[in-house]
Amino acid sequence: MDYQNILIENQNGVVILTINRPHALNALNMATISEVGHFFELGYKEIENLKGVVITGAGDKAFVAGADIKEFTGIESPEQGSALARNGHVAFDRMEQFHKPVIAAVQGFCLGGGFELALACHMRIAGEKAKFSFPEVNLGLLPGFNGSQRLPMLVGKAKAFEMLMTTDMIKAEEAVRLGIANHHVIQGEEINKSIEIIEKIATKAPLAIAEVIKTVNAYQNKEADGTEQEINSFGYLMTTDDFKEGTAAFIEKRGANFKGK
Ligand code: CAA
Repeated sequence: MDYQNILIENQNGVVILTINRPHALNALNMATISEVGHFFELGYKEIENLKGVVITGAGDKAFVAGADIKEFTGIESPEQGSALARNGHVAFDRMEQFHKPVIAAVQGFCLGGGFELALACHMRIAGEKAKFSFPEVNLGLLPGFNGSQRLPMLVGKAKAFEMLMTTDMIKAEEAVRLGIANHHVIQGEEINKSIEIIEKIATKAPLAIAEVIKTVNAYQNKEADGTEQEINSFGYLMTTDDFKEGTAAFIEKRGANFKGK
């Protein structure tokens, strides 16, 4: 597949997968999500002696600033909204289940769907300008790519509630303290640190690493309905007036006036 929105660079068996939409702070449009999904299903097979994947964003301002809000216009039914959420779930689940380590190298804004992309990676390395937040409630939404389920597993329920409801931005050091990021590093070293970890893992037994990934992921899979609930809530919220107002306010660069409808 000829990718239009992501770059694939092979550095001695470590793939650097860059979300490459810097004009939109690397926001995830649907095409980008399918390309990420395609890479983890089929694209990786073209890489010889693959050791692991580092995911990052183009430029130094943003890792990924969320799902592409401009693509939300035109969604009229809960089914359409849920389908959008489900696409993200499928691609990100595939990445989480990938048999080689996947590490997010976060060098700037890591927001909404971008935070969810990072949370679906096995580890996260935060540069000193990294900022993590779920701003969805400012748009009349909630996370749609499984963030509501993955976040509390790392930070606990109370902190997850605080982050999801206040939209507060978490900086690199605090992200490590909370268990969101594995390490914080000086700006510009996020990819190198990720490669260093993948190179270390590459010296271990590959089948054992694949089983570690499967097993730790099984711990997370509690067969809860939270996942379905999130997909359905996302679809429902996309049909509310508050969501239309929140996204219009973002695009028109003004404050939102929510009515609770
Ligand atoms: N979707 C689409 N475009 C986006 C975007 C997004 N998520 N985030 C930024 N952009 C675009 C802006 O519209 C702008 O484009 P124009 O130059 O054409 O106007 C460009 O990127 C640069 O952004 P700003 O001018 O806004 O940059 P800034 O430095 O003033 O602000 C920011 C940076 C605080 C990250 C701000 O861009 C912002 O708040 N972005 C939106 C963040 C957000 O709400 N993310 C959640 C999306 S919803 C979601 O992700 C749902 C889900 O779970 C599936």
